[in-house]
This record gives sequence, C-alpha cells and structure tokens, in this order.
Amino acid sequence: MCGIVGALTGRPAAPLMLDALRRLEYRGYDSAGLATIQDGKLHRRRAAGKLSELDAVVAADPLPGTSGVGHTRWATHGPPTVENAHPHIAGRVAVVHNGIIENYAELKAGLKADGVTFTSDTDTEVVAHLLDRAIRAGQTPQAAMAALMPRLTGAFAFVVLVAGEDDLLLAARRVSPLAIGLGDGEAFVGSDAVALAPLTRRIVYLEDGDWAVLRRSGVEVFRDAGVPVERREQISTVSAAMVGKGNYRHFMEKEIHEQPEAIAHTLNAVLDPGTGRATVPYPLDAPDIPKITIVAAGTSYYAGLAARYWFESLAGIATEVELASEFRDRDVVLPERGVTIAVTQSGESLDTLMAVRQAKALGQRILAIVNVPESTIARESDGVLLTRAGPEFGVASTKATAAQLTAFCALAIALGRANGRLSEERAIELRDALAGLPSRVGEALHHEARYVRIAHDLARARDVLYLGRGLSYPIALEGALKLKEITYVHAEGYAAGEMKHGPIALIDENVPVVIVAPTDRWFEKTASNVSEVRARGGRVILLTDAAGAERLGESDDHVVVLPTVDPVVAPILYLVPVQLLAYYAAVEKGTDADQPRNLAKSVTVE
Ligand code: AGP
Repeated sequence: MCGIVGALTGRPAAPLMLDALRRLEYRGYDSAGLATIQDGKLHRRRAAGKLSELDAVVAADPLPGTSGVGHTRWATHGPPTVENAHPHIAGRVAVVHNGIIENYAELKAGLKADGVTFTSDTDTEVVAHLLDRAIRAGQTPQAAMAALMPRLTGAFAFVVLVAGEDDLLLAARRVSPLAIGLGDGEAFVGSDAVALAPLTRRIVYLEDGDWAVLRRSGVEVFRDAGVPVERREQISTVSAAMVGKGNYRHFMEKEIHEQPEAIAHTLNAVLDPGTGRATVPYPLDAPDIPKITIVAAGTSYYAGLAARYWFESLAGIATEVELASEFRDRDVVLPERGVTIAVTQSGESLDTLMAVRQAKALGQRILAIVNVPESTIARESDGVLLTRAGPEFGVASTKATAAQLTAFCALAIALGRANGRLSEERAIELRDALAGLPSRVGEALHHEARYVRIAHDLARARDVLYLGRGLSYPIALEGALKLKEITYVHAEGYAAGEMKHGPIALIDENVPVVIVAPTDRWFEKTASNVSEVRARGGRVILLTDAAGAERLGESDDHVVVLPTVDPVVAPILYLVPVQLLAYYAAVEKGTDADQPRNLAKSVTVE
C-alpha cells in the first residue's frame, strides 16, 4: 500500500506530482507529502489526512523545483501524523516508501548506536539515514544504493531524491510494484502506470529485485549490488481519459454503472468471436486436472467461492477455495498436476502473490485471473486470463468482481464442454444467458428510488445480516463486506442454512436481514428461512425475481425485483443490488465511499 511518485521534469514538479498522487490515493490516504529540489536544497511539505490537506498546505506555501518525490500513506509503522508522513529526510536524502523494511529494527538499532537521531516511528527513515551516511562518507548516490540494497529485507518499493542532484532519482522494487515513465526530456516513476497516464504512456516496469537510476535522459536498471539489466519499454494500455469520475459523485458509483461494459468486454475477450465458445487457457487446458485450488483475498475470494459451484457443477472438477493469507501459512497438500488459480483485481495483493509463489513451489501450475495485465501476479503466473473491467479506483471493488465472475462462469462452461460433462445444448443456453447479462445488469441499475429507500434503513442499523444459499451465498458475503467497508455498519454474510445454527439469535425488529433469493434450486429452502426471520419480527429485505416476489414479497418497499435470468448466471446480476444498497447507505451516512477509513485498494502488506 502507499502510493509513491517521482518526477524529473522541466516544469514545476509539485503540481504534477499532486495530480499523480490523486490517482494513487486508492493505495492509502492517511497522510501525504512532497519533497523537491531548488538551488541544490531539499524542500518539503507534509500533511496528516487526505491529499486535500496537502493541497491546502502547498497552496499556502508553494514548493519550488522541477524534480521531486511524493507520497500518499497507508500507515504501517507509526500513526498517521505529520512527523510520520513521507518524504523522510536525513541530511541530503529524501525517501518515499511503500511496503515494509522488515529488518528496520536491527538497522535502526545500529544507527542509533552510532548516534543517529530519528524523527519518526517509520521503518522508512532507516533508508534515508543509511544512504545519507554513505553519501557523506564520499560514495556516489548510485554506489550508496548498490551497497544498501543487499542489506534490506522485506517487500517494498522506494524512491530517493538527493539534494544537489537535480537530475537524479533512485528507485527500488522488492515485490511491491514500481513503474518508470519515460517522457521527452523527462522521467517519472510511480506505483503504477495509471498514476503516470497523463504524463506518459511509455513505461518500463521494474522486475522484483530491480533498482534503477533515473535521469531526464533515461533510465538504467540494476539488480543486487549493481549488476546492469535490460528492461523493455512498453506502451501502457491506460489512457488519461480512463482515470476520471465523469459525471458521477464517486468512482464507486461510476464503476457500478460500468458493469454492463465490464461484463461485455470480458466476454468478448474470453469467447471466440467465430464459434462463440470460450477457449480454455493454459494451464487449465490439460486433461484430467485432479483439482483446482483458487487463492484470493476479500471480494476476489468471494468470486472464487462462486467459481467453485460452477467448476463442480458444470465441469465436475474438484475445487477448493482458499483465503490467500491462510493458504500461504499452512502446510497445504496439493495433488500432482493440480492447477492453482489466483484471482485478483490488482494483481498485487501480497497475500495472493505469496500464495502463488507457495503453490508454484509445491509444483502447481498457475493461472491468474487478473484485471491489471502488467501486474506482478500476471507476470509470475504460467497463464493469464484478463478480466476487462478497465481501471478500478473505488476502494470497494465492484466492476472488477462482475468481470471476475463472468470470466469464471465462461471458463467453467468451456471446461464442462471440454471434458464432456456439459451438453452443447446447455452450454449454448448458458452462453446466451451470459451474453444477455449486460442488458439485465443495466435494468438492475435502474431501481434507484427503491435502493435509496432501503439504504436509508441500512444506514441507521447497528447490525445487518445477509443470507444466501448455494450460488447466492458468495453474494451474501459480498453484500456484507461492501456494507461494512464503506458505511462502517456491522454486517455479516451467512449461508442461509447456517442461520438456525447460531445467527438466528441476533434477529429482532432492529436487525435488517438482506436475503439474496433468485428462484433457483435452493429457493424453496431459502423461502423457509425468510419465514423464520419474519416469524421472529426480523425485517426482511428481499432481492429476488418476479416469481420469487410473487411467492414471498410482503412489503413492496423492501423487495427488489430483478430481471429473471438463468439461475447459473444469477450471482453476477445480484451483485448489483448489494453494491448499490451499500453505496446509497454510504451516501446517506456521508461516509467516503471511495476512500473508506483504514482501507487501501491494493493491499501490499501481509
Ligand atoms: C473489496 O471491496 C476490497 N476492498 C478487498 O477485499 C479486495 O477485494 C481485496 O483486497 C483483494 O484485492 P485484489 O482483488 O486486488 O487482490
């Protein structure tokens, strides 16, 4: 987490770095800061809180200079105060950093023993001191960096600015991502290519373990203690036009409304335009795969739970879904010739990346289902299936989830056809159902008044339960996660059949219970759960279709009637109401849907 940026330019650096930080704020927004060089000296401005606080500080006291570094923080070491905000400066060196220097305590103890005084609680400050001491001892900044890199452990990225060196930035990447941007007589660096999109689309991605020397004339890349390596320049697929909010209040609202396109684009990429069939990507194309293991975090994990139903029922393949953070710390047993699927929007979640590395070490072949083609997980996997949701900025994942579910469903259909488990007739029906989804999702978006009315209740509740069975269970989990992350209302998602084993004790007239219930093979059982909740005075909010509403709807106000679709694809459609209920509840409460407290979009710490 944390967003970092650096610029060597001919224009004032501060405004363009602030602009780039705005596109990185999804990575953290506890505090922010900038440092530049003017007349050989470092100048710094920092502020606690969101970037708008730093905007105000810089407007009141502008920063001179055409080269600099900037940071937006998600606190790991030390509270989000001005003192802990980056850049951290020691003597001639300013550092912005993302991730964790794991051996910082040992390095800090050594520096303290030598009489160094620290001004922050961060792990970052050791990097600034170590480089400054080496430079003061007569080493060039490049030599100081080469000597430092082998001494650091952890998963991190950082960028260094050195006083007196107006045409130099040093940048390092160990696990955490870093992209270098090349301009015309300018050079930039940022946590991702999106941050640099308005500045340049010519990108050099650093590989894990690389470090680089940037000058306005170009970049040199090294490994370890200074072995030069070649890294290819690429043209980023992200354009400046893709990174705004348009006419929407929040990125989240915009991204929810972009789901018809996200689904359609993902389908176009997965299905062969000639045959209409999905091609099974490597390494899933091998015959007789004994087991699929899906690893993921958060919402992506819930997409994996839905995928398990599809892989099992459409393709008859044994499937397990694992929270990446648990998987990587267990002595997991995986079968020979097994395939692990990593599903991730960002392709950078550290837990998922570590799970991928562990699965690889255990002999599994890896397929990544990922939304960012240049991401670390995409590059480290044996095969890649790209979701085509486009850049997602809202911390709460929405359109990327719809694209992940679409990709999984199309893949399960293709696997079912490939191993003969699914008839061609049924496969055609299901592909048609998928193809119809962009329109059905568009219709589901148009119940705004109803969503707002129900969200009004959710925003006032202390606890909310979400229930669903079978394919609706992951959507219940997702609904609860969306509500808690952006409204801070406590919510729990449960398998509807589990209610009687405990959560039923929570139900009274104050607890809204959102029930995800398309008419599918689980519907009758869920209908019984609806009665059980009502019998205990619980307030049911029913998400269903016309047949379900006719069977169960009591109060129109609390029923959302969605278009009728094939039950197999229903979870993709039922994402929409749970997302919009959470979104409008956040609007009602006045919480920041795009930047909820304590969260960051790309979680690159363990
Ligand atoms: C979703 O709304 C979350 N903010 C979060 O759970 C997210 O899905 C998770 O961190 C995984 O991210 P990834 O898909 O980028 O790996």
